[in-house]
Amino acid sequence: MGLEEIVKLGLERGFFFPSAEIYSGSPAGFWEYGHLGALLKRKFIDAWHRLMVRRDEMLLVDGSQILPKPVFIASGHLATFADPITRCKSCKSVYRIDRLLEEKLGIKVPERTPPEQIDAIIAEHGFRCPACGGELDKVSLFNMMFGVSLGASGDEGYLRPETCQNIFIDFPRVYKISRRKLPLPLAQVGKSFRNEISPRQSLIRLREFTQAEIEVFFNPRTANEFEKAKTVADKELNMWMGDRVEKITCERAFEKGLVSSWLVAYYLWLVQDFYFRLGINPDKLRFRRLGDDEKAFYAAEAWDLEVLTSTGWMELVACNNRTDYDLGGHQRISGVDLRITEDGETFLPHVFELSMGVDRSLLALLEHGYVQENGRSVLRLHPALAPYTLAVFPLLDRPELTQVAQRLYSMLQLDFDTFYDEKGSIGRRYRRQDEIGTPFCITVDYQTLEDNTVTVRDRDTMKQERVSIDVLKSFISDKLVI
Ligand code: ATP
Ligand code: GLY
Repeated sequence: MGLEEIVKLGLERGFFFPSAEIYSGSPAGFWEYGHLGALLKRKFIDAWHRLMVRRDEMLLVDGSQILPKPVFIASGHLATFADPITRCKSCKSVYRIDRLLEEKLGIKVPERTPPEQIDAIIAEHGFRCPACGGELDKVSLFNMMFGVSLGASGDEGYLRPETCQNIFIDFPRVYKISRRKLPLPLAQVGKSFRNEISPRQSLIRLREFTQAEIEVFFNPRTANEFEKAKTVADKELNMWMGDRVEKITCERAFEKGLVSSWLVAYYLWLVQDFYFRLGINPDKLRFRRLGDDEKAFYAAEAWDLEVLTSTGWMELVACNNRTDYDLGGHQRISGVDLRITEDGETFLPHVFELSMGVDRSLLALLEHGYVQENGRSVLRLHPALAPYTLAVFPLLDRPELTQVAQRLYSMLQLDFDTFYDEKGSIGRRYRRQDEIGTPFCITVDYQTLEDNTVTVRDRDTMKQERVSIDVLKSFISDKLVI
């Protein structure tokens, strides 16, 4: 299915829709999740917690979304987190000029190209405003952070453009309290804010979005003495080799020098395995190593985990080796010594990060899961992710059946997200649940009154099996393991 169908499903069934939609002219780049979308998002984050945080014994942080100015002086965002823009002198349209040149002329403008050099490209190609043909003004840099004024004094603060800055500034306290040794992975899920110049494609480019970020603090001298990595030596990574995806074991990726350390190989595998388990099509996921002209300013080594969608390859997770860039910056600006001492060695830890976009991940899961087959629309989400796990129906709208069905609903409602429906033909009720991904529909019929069993219909196979109400909860729970 294409993005258009997913957005249509999102709007019609209330998965997601534009913010402040009753007001005309509301700014682009802000979206809301309705009940089904909010349930899906919550379950996605639960899965991330289970398969990343718990599995790898990470520690959690839940920090402020507003941080003071020195944090972003230290992180480099105030000086560097900017996109090049230009304005048409006639119609006043504003453009993110690097993207526009790539889209219209196929010219790739490397990250951090000085504005004067972009002016030169525009002049050389006689490039003009695509909307009205007018002359374009000089290129300038537009910082993407949202500034806020704090309290009556008006001190400057910023909405965080990435969640991880909290993790870096919290590191000394969290490390000390943890009484653990490196490598130490810290994880946080929360909102990030970027004043994107051209927000678009629903959840793909938002101005307010959710990131699930993991920052692994490690000693660069021992990044290859990482015992856990050896357990995945023979596991394969989908590596983009410039013209095709090759499945390369973690061991070979390290030996061939594709990744800088065993630690990097292990965490790439961990995040790939997460998406495979959730049901992303394995043939549509790849790691692409970014060149120097694409990497973020803080990254020494950068991998994008990308997913193939109807709009092409889309970045889901930025996997960056940030070295000691961040701790070094915060140490310099705060004046606090952020080095640690382990086994007699005093050093500034390095950081490898997995920066996951939650909203884009949901969109990709919806797109990969949504199929039309034999006249029905089915959302084949993993049962653990499906917004409703169960629907309970009486076969017919008759009191002897509805009373039992309602009792069953009450019994299940607190343990599972359960939908109750007694109106309309049973076939139509099944179809409505298929479309929103409900994996199991439970029907109370006349046999239920005799032997206390119900039918459980599987969304994907449409097969039904009879299950005793006495064992129904464990029957369902067993199917929710990821
Ligand atoms: P892109 O190149 O697509 O603009 P980016 O390189 O700016 O993305 P990162 O800064 O690496 O993105 O952010 C890490 C992750 O956060 C991305 O992989 C993506 O999943 C998510 N993300 C970043 N910006 C946005 C946005 N504006 N809207 C939704 N998700 C985003
Ligand atoms: N923390 C990495 C990013 O948001 O880009």
